[in-house]
Amino acid sequence: MKNSFDQALLGHLRCPASGELLELRVFAGSPADGIEAGVLIARGRGLFYPVIGGVAHLLPHATPAMEAFARQWSEEIGTLGGLRLPAPARESSPEEEHFETSGIEGVGGDSFDIGRRAAAVDLVPHEVDSLLDVGAGPGLFLADFETARPHVRTLGLERSGAAIRAARCTSPILMGTANRLPLPDEAVDCVVTMEMLEHLPSAIHEQGLRELARVARRFVLVNVPYRERRLQAECPDCGCVFNPSYHLRSYDGDALMRLLPGFRPLTQRLLPRRENLLKAMAAPWRTRVFGGFTDYAICPQCRYRRPSVPAGTPATRAGGWRSTLHALAARLPRVDVRGEILVLYERKHD
Ligand SMILES: C[S@@+](CC[C@H](N)C(=O)[O-])C[C@H]1O[C@@H](n2cnc3c(N)ncnc32)[C@H](O)[C@@H]1O
Ligand SMILES: [Zn+2]
Repeated sequence: MKNSFDQALLGHLRCPASGELLELRVFAGSPADGIEAGVLIARGRGLFYPVIGGVAHLLPHATPAMEAFARQWSEEIGTLGGLRLPAPARESSPEEEHFETSGIEGVGGDSFDIGRRAAAVDLVPHEVDSLLDVGAGPGLFLADFETARPHVRTLGLERSGAAIRAARCTSPILMGTANRLPLPDEAVDCVVTMEMLEHLPSAIHEQGLRELARVARRFVLVNVPYRERRLQAECPDCGCVFNPSYHLRSYDGDALMRLLPGFRPLTQRLLPRRENLLKAMAAPWRTRVFGGFTDYAICPQCRYRRPSVPAGTPATRAGGWRSTLHALAARLPRVDVRGEILVLYERKHD
């Protein structure tokens, strides 16, 4: 049967060996049996994930035919690659657009983020042999995890093409959505999801949680904001009020206890943020003082966005009097404010 490799460009993966940006293509039809099939290969780390019927397998499922196919494919096309069935065309939400244009690919992480990722790496139990990061962004957690635990088989899944193109990990990152994970039941020992759940609209949130629980054989590690006071921005054009980080929900102890049916919380780690005193005290009326509408906010109602942001510029604070105020505030003492939480869940056995 004829291969049809060159159907559509899906995205890019960075080659772990050469650092070169390689094309990831959608294709259909395997030489063996005509089902949608392919391989995800992270060559530098000897990982080999067959994809059969649009489902990625992290386990050593590869048949000799699949291996031959993989070899032929990577020789012919010279890619690290994978498969995703082409998604039906639809309009993207403002939140999706935000993650395509927010400069997420340029984010290196401040000290809070570095500490957050280190705490997450630390909480992954040592018996874990395979791990999936859902909403992986540009793969910063995966990169840290690969360094700390190079023998664990790792895979990411992410919806934003901009984030995948900027991936800094050697693990493959599949393009997809959290509410339809292209993996079999209990495919990995541990599923990780960091700063993603709070962005999901209710229906997707529920389906997404079910999918995390379905794919995790033993553990789920969740990182969400904890008892967050969500600030609101007002759209200067239509007056719609919304959270400019697109956080759609808050989590407290009760919500986290009930989050994943069939799993029980095992360990948790609070991650307070350090903020200067003025910023912490001003939080409730920050919207009124600063307007709250950030450079990368897109109004969910009328899609207004600030006109002046050059494409690809990382999110920065506005200049002028605001930066003067920020400079002054930076001299004040810093205090701990509510931040985020990491919770490790384990599948119940009863
Ligand atoms: C705030 S970023 C967090 C990135 C990374 N996990 C971290 O902790 O730094 C949220 C990420 O979730 C992704 N995301 C949002 N909704 C998603 C969905 N339904 N499926 C997969 N990824 C999603 C966004 O594209 C974005 O990369
Ligand atoms: Zn608006």
